[in-house]
Amino acid sequence: MTIIHIVLFEWKSTALPEQIQEACKRMLALSEQCIHPTSQKPYIKSFTGGKNNSREGQADPYTHGFVVEFESAEDRDYYAFKDPAHQDFIKFAGEVANGVKVVDYEPGKV
Ligand SMILES: *[C@@H]1O[C@H](CO)[C@@H](O)[C@H](O)[C@H]1NC(C)=O
Repeated sequence: MTIIHIVLFEWKSTALPEQIQEACKRMLALSEQCIHPTSQKPYIKSFTGGKNNSREGQADPYTHGFVVEFESAEDRDYYAFKDPAHQDFIKFAGEVANGVKVVDYEPGKV
């Protein structure tokens, strides 16, 4: 049961461009750094993200978006609440993020 996890970031007005770059780089690096506690292997199925380039005018205040795909709700829960690599990232990003939105779904389940 695939789970898609969507994350949108708004940065603090005081955040430097280099800090935002660093946060985005670290976020993307989680695809390799998040290791499954049992298999000891990376468990995230796909991980993409980048700077908003929408022309619809609806992005504000979120300037960066990420989409993460998990194999199961269990993997998503481990990532969200336990994975030490992700917890470290949350601490780092918390210094520069002003707001975060997260929506998860199982494709087609409405
Ligand atoms: C989103 O991207 C568009 C196109 O680059 C830009 O005009 C707009 O200001 C951006 N909005 C945000 C909130 O990043």
